[in-house]
Amino acid sequence: MSFSWKGLRVLITSGPTKEFLDPVRFITNASSGKMGWALAAEAWRLGAKVTVVSGPVSTPPPGKILVQWVETAIEMRNQVLKLAKKADLIVSAAAVTDWRPKKFSPNKIKRREGEVHLALVPNPDIIGEIGKIKKKSGAKERKFPVLVGFALETHDLERAALKKMREKNLDMIVANSPASLSSERIRATLFLKTGVKKKLSLTTKRLCARSIFNEIEDFL
Ligand code: C5P
Repeated sequence: MSFSWKGLRVLITSGPTKEFLDPVRFITNASSGKMGWALAAEAWRLGAKVTVVSGPVSTPPPGKILVQWVETAIEMRNQVLKLAKKADLIVSAAAVTDWRPKKFSPNKIKRREGEVHLALVPNPDIIGEIGKIKKKSGAKERKFPVLVGFALETHDLERAALKKMREKNLDMIVANSPASLSSERIRATLFLKTGVKKKLSLTTKRLCARSIFNEIEDFL
């Protein structure tokens, strides 16, 4: 019998997160959310039930996709942990801002002379947390939820990607470079924990998403 995505529940994280230091100032990154939308559109075309948890982006979601909007990494974590229990596949395409300001000032911080030092604390590793829960929750060969992450690096991409896949207990990792950020296109290599390595040529994010789902089909 051939594989069917019909009814499978796919959860995708997408976009950047914003980490506020006061009501009007925040740190973030250049993620556009386009990869997340491409994954959502492709999963929907395949017949899956798709939910996206997205940080703030300016490009609109494709068609009938259900989107849970969040701003901060903590909000994203809380939504994802709630939805993860019912997911068959989780694709973490979000560029979660790695740190947040240690203190949030409810009032706008006044301008003053001299240097200002900003103390940052690490944000929760969302997909890493889910990987840990999956590991703890039973048999080693447990397949679901299938976990897919992204690794974006400026150097030593393959080694860093493989390390992330292992440490976060992922089934697949999509290695790509910062040139993909905000771009319509992506040059990616897919690594599976089975040892499969698939180098894709420069392509659209939609076609990259198609290749990712093809590899997951083979994996399952
Ligand atoms: O930031 P890092 O390179 O570790 O990101 C690798 C993967 O982990 C990506 O799939 C990203 O979405 C996910 N991640 C996450 N929570 C974080 C940081 C990254 O889920 N705080």
